[in-house]
Amino acid sequence: MNSVIEVAALRKTFKGHDGTSRAVLKNLDLTVGAGEFLCILGPSGCGKSTLLNVLAGLDKVYEGRASVSGGRVGYLFQEPRLLPWLTANGNLDFALASCKVPTSRWSELKSRYLAMAGLSEFRDYYPHQISGGMAQRLALVRALCVEPGILLMDEPFSGLDEITARRIRSDLLAIWRETRKTIVFVTHNAYEACFLADRILVMSGGAFQHEMRVPIARPRSYDDPAIFTFSRDVIKAFGDEIERDPVPSAATESGSVNNLDRHTAARMNI
Ligand SMILES: Nc1ncnc2c1ncn2[C@@H]1O[C@H](COP(=O)(O)OP(=O)(O)OP(=O)(O)O)[C@@H](O)[C@H]1O
Ligand SMILES: [Mg+2]
Repeated sequence: MNSVIEVAALRKTFKGHDGTSRAVLKNLDLTVGAGEFLCILGPSGCGKSTLLNVLAGLDKVYEGRASVSGGRVGYLFQEPRLLPWLTANGNLDFALASCKVPTSRWSELKSRYLAMAGLSEFRDYYPHQISGGMAQRLALVRALCVEPGILLMDEPFSGLDEITARRIRSDLLAIWRETRKTIVFVTHNAYEACFLADRILVMSGGAFQHEMRVPIARPRSYDDPAIFTFSRDVIKAFGDEIERDPVPSAATESGSVNNLDRHTAARMNI
């Protein structure tokens, strides 16, 4: 598998309000193959969005290397970031125009993804006229409409009701299967990660701590007991790291997962 994302010794430091520097990403190494579905699972504040901002090219101030190839990058932010002066349709047109998608395809793309997100009836609504969950679904439509080769998704379903989230997760997998996009998906939700991913990286304190392949055949059903069993094992092994408040420490300074595979396997009892 060709790799489309290559990160080596990535280190990102932020200055705090008192002027002191704090390393938020600590020597991360990451390779993502073309067409892979990678989930990054980690607690609040561990650096997930910071990493996606670097991969998206929005944050260019870092040490180390971060290269992304393989087509247009779509980014579904943690919050919808819609343009409030444009309708849903206008927001989609804006993205399609910005990405230079031929106008002959706009109607088909918008109809397809608006229907998938259950928003066909709302294309003339402004962002303030739709709910928070609908706005997040519209942001998903915007990200998919421009047909990215690589899709970065930052906790995209955490604000949705569970029934809608279940449906959209399955739709996302169907789109991924059909279009062979590369997806990097950030979540706090271990079950969601086990349902979606080929591979899961557990991140905490600004470093990747564990890596595992999801040993569940595709296509997957959300109710498959194998997903329940695997996610239970993930939580049993790593729940403390996924949930705890990240306290940056020297002990978590290693960002390479490759040396941790044996350790991961031992903790998961596999
Ligand atoms: N612009 C910034 N200036 C200073 N510190 C920042 C900045 N952006 C992020 N940070 C800090 O970097 C750390 C990681 O933030 P980040 O947003 O990447 O976390 P996260 O893993 O995405 O968390 P969450 O799951 O809550 O979204 C946090 O401690 C945050 O305070
Ligand atoms: Mg975040």
